[in-house]
Amino acid sequence: MKLIFEKSIPGRGQDIFPICDVPICLPKAPHRNTKPRLPEISENEMGRHYTSLAKRAHGVNDGFYPLGSCTMKHNPKINEAMASLPGFVNIHPLQPPHTVVGANEIITELENFLCEITGMDAITFQPAAGAQGEFTGLLLIKAYLQDKGEFERNEILVPDSAHGTNPASATMAGFKSITIKSDAFGMVDLDDLKSHLGPKTAGLMLTNPNTVGLFDTHIMDITRLVHEAGGLCYYDGANLNAVMGIVRPADIGFDVIHMNLHKTFSTPHGGGGPGSGPCGCKSFLSPYLPGLTCKDGKTYTRAEKSIGNLTGFYGNFLVNIKAFTYILTLGSKGVPSVAKNAVLNANYMQEKLKDIYPVAFDTTCMHEFVISLQAIHNEKNISALDVAKALLDHGMHPPTMYFPLIVDEALMIEPTETESRETLDDAIEVFRDIYKMIIESPEIVAASPQTTPVLRLDEVKAAREPKLKYNFGE
Ligand SMILES: Cc1ncc(COP(=O)(O)O)c(C=O)c1O
Repeated sequence: MKLIFEKSIPGRGQDIFPICDVPICLPKAPHRNTKPRLPEISENEMGRHYTSLAKRAHGVNDGFYPLGSCTMKHNPKINEAMASLPGFVNIHPLQPPHTVVGANEIITELENFLCEITGMDAITFQPAAGAQGEFTGLLLIKAYLQDKGEFERNEILVPDSAHGTNPASATMAGFKSITIKSDAFGMVDLDDLKSHLGPKTAGLMLTNPNTVGLFDTHIMDITRLVHEAGGLCYYDGANLNAVMGIVRPADIGFDVIHMNLHKTFSTPHGGGGPGSGPCGCKSFLSPYLPGLTCKDGKTYTRAEKSIGNLTGFYGNFLVNIKAFTYILTLGSKGVPSVAKNAVLNANYMQEKLKDIYPVAFDTTCMHEFVISLQAIHNEKNISALDVAKALLDHGMHPPTMYFPLIVDEALMIEPTETESRETLDDAIEVFRDIYKMIIESPEIVAASPQTTPVLRLDEVKAAREPKLKYNFGE
């Protein structure tokens, strides 16, 4: 398929408006000297171009999307409708507060809801993604420890099952990231944790349920040990979908948390769509929160010892509107039922597949489970990647591959609560058919996909020689 720049024809699609005759009164400096290099194409052709691109993508509206650790759930359309209301879309954060009372009230209400769900005392909506929420939380921990004069605490403990953003955020926040081993059951290895705790411990970052889909049964011991060593406990809330309304991170010893509103609380985030990673904390950390808040509808104030700004204003405000609508729609009974059904769906699939696809940790899972293709790979030379590619031929988005790093040939499957029993049964049948093909004709699986717009890509070449910029022939 041609790029839109390759379809561009000089002068095409430029004739809707006459040339502007309003004199430009900006000072000279910000003027561009050359015209922006935009594709010149008719509206009709442009519409077709983007529609055909959209048809090549796979989203939650196209089919099953069990992308582990990403919670690709159905996003109720009412959320989009609410976030499109002119009263939300057309306001500006620099308007006088008395003209945006409703918007500020919603932020306060949403903060209350999320505090109730997590057990935290205060929340900032500034972070625009989960990773930025992590970074914010770590800066809060740092500011708090430094305020107490504990400058020597510069180590953040991160389990080896953690998402890559955890050690990255710790490093960006100026800490040393220390890896803690998982035990044979996929939980934090308590002995390894104890051996790394000490006067340098600033805190621990933990995802619970973790990225192998297991709730750490030692969680109370883990958070107690970290606190006894003088560190703080950070909860990576990316997997909150499995426990929301049932377990509150604050009640199991966490001091600071981020949530991925764009996973747990709806908002499609595929393709880098807008996110919101609010960071919540216990009251002793709230004096360090970033940004401005308006609690009385009249004035914006900054926390006493604020770490500054992470983004402008309330981050991605419209994503917050979607989360607010989602929580209101579910109500206090609906929120825990999301978690229960997410766990039920994952266990249903796990049970129906584990006789042929060995699960990494054979126990009741939470909202996702990890299968390992290692044995199949050894025997039939079919990898997790091959199975992922074969799924594409069945109209399914593949699960997350090769993550978590502690499981060889991993496929991480997260069906989410919004899939019906019929969809799950269809997906199970597809996995079983692919297994049959692995046994009978592995070469077909190895050659998949065959029905997609592009077939197997040279992944090494793509990684080593990425084409990040269009060459205009210069
Ligand atoms: C466990 C976990 N933590 C953190 C993140 C980071 O979230 P984001 O992609 O919004 O930055 C992810 C994202 O996939 C995740 O799965």
